[in-house]
Amino acid sequence: MSDEQSGAKNTLSIRDNRTGRDYEVEIHEGDVIRAMDLRQIKVDEGDFGMMSYDPAFVNTASTRSTVTYIDGANGILQYRGYPIEQLAERSSFLEVAYLLLKGELPTQSELDAFVQDVTFHTYVHENMRDLLDSFRYDAHSMGMMISAVSALSTFYPEAKNVHDPDTRWIQINRLVAKMPTLAAFAYRYHRGLPLVYPENELSYSANFLNMLFRIGVKEYRPNPVLERALDVLFILHADHEQNCSATTMRVIGSAEADPFSAMAGAMAALYGPLHGGANEQVLRMLHRIGDVKNVPEFIKGVKNREERLMGFGHRVYKSYDPRAAIIKRTAEEVFEVTGRNPLLDIALELERIALEEDFFVSRNLYPNVDFYSGLIYQALGFPVEMFPVLFAIPRTVGWLAQWQELIEDPEQRIARPRQVFTGSERREFVPVEERG
Ligand code: CMC
Repeated sequence: MSDEQSGAKNTLSIRDNRTGRDYEVEIHEGDVIRAMDLRQIKVDEGDFGMMSYDPAFVNTASTRSTVTYIDGANGILQYRGYPIEQLAERSSFLEVAYLLLKGELPTQSELDAFVQDVTFHTYVHENMRDLLDSFRYDAHSMGMMISAVSALSTFYPEAKNVHDPDTRWIQINRLVAKMPTLAAFAYRYHRGLPLVYPENELSYSANFLNMLFRIGVKEYRPNPVLERALDVLFILHADHEQNCSATTMRVIGSAEADPFSAMAGAMAALYGPLHGGANEQVLRMLHRIGDVKNVPEFIKGVKNREERLMGFGHRVYKSYDPRAAIIKRTAEEVFEVTGRNPLLDIALELERIALEEDFFVSRNLYPNVDFYSGLIYQALGFPVEMFPVLFAIPRTVGWLAQWQELIEDPEQRIARPRQVFTGSERREFVPVEERG
């Protein structure tokens, strides 16, 4: 029966019991009402009007987006409609980057041109070396990266011209291209190693591995399994719709800041241990547990709320994180080359126990993308400080796709949430000598 036959209407009726008035607001795109439609609900004319209160935006859509689709209940993740499993299996990171940024998979010639553009922009201004040199010897790589990306805005002042699509595209190419170079520089600085410059004939991932790990040889060719594993990890991390850092990117971008400055903010959000800093925390946690025999005691601590099981749980995925399943398989392939990471046994035992325990099952706590990625990064030779950086490199693409969508969206204006004020009412200033 159609809506018309059944008399069903795509509207929501609201009765304000304070006044007895009835309102009818339109329902859009399935289950969405416009928050501004609530504003008409008032007790009297002087009233501001009804708002919704939603700390942490748990039930608020801040945008319409065509980039990434997640069905958290069923463990589905799609970029521009393509399932993450197919992209991880059959695509390359730069092909996925093009898809996310442009909306469609590239033709061969479009892909070749994009790869050429990204390759062409991998070098950074030599002054960036001085900037990185100025950090303390033990500076965290992510802190260095955030500063470096923000500094890039001063090298490209034209990036402020955010409404010009051609200028935007050049900055996008620059950011995608320069992130691995800056990341490798930060890593080599940390290790006290001479910097290695980009090599244009290598793939995106191979070039990155070359800049990181080449020492004392003219040519460095990474193991193809490891090169592919890194590319797959990059694909899995490329975007994840309106998460904390993407929202930060959009909020800063809404003030029309240049993309380098906006991205430095997004990276700062990603750095947090509840977001992209979690993979680092997983490794630290596994080291702390130290042995499979200590796992039950650790789980007890989690249930007593003395600990948090890092790498578990997700705001959106409530069945499983499809990225975690792919990463677990990738880990096995990597370990065949590098040898088994001894922490894997602790991770597997944590997962086994957690998936049986009611505390985790009843709260829908499953391994997320960060649970196994750190083990792969460690096997590839990365120190833990580099883990959030390894998240930031591919997520650059997602941030920029989200930023571009925001800039082109006529409905978007400067982000400015409301508050429910709960502080004190007006009161008179008291001079310090009269305060009790
Ligand atoms: N260990 C133990 N308990 C947990 C965990 C965890 N990892 N995650 C959630 N809970 C509990 C939480 O205490 C709460 O219990 P109760 O209802 O009894 O108070 C319940 O589960 C719901 O948790 P929440 O904190 O309301 O969930 P959230 O949606 O606000 O938080 C999260 C999501 C990812 C921040 C959280 O699950 C967490 O802190 N996980 C560990 C950090 C982590 O792995 N982060 C990476 C996320 S995936 C990559 C990314 O997106 O950056």
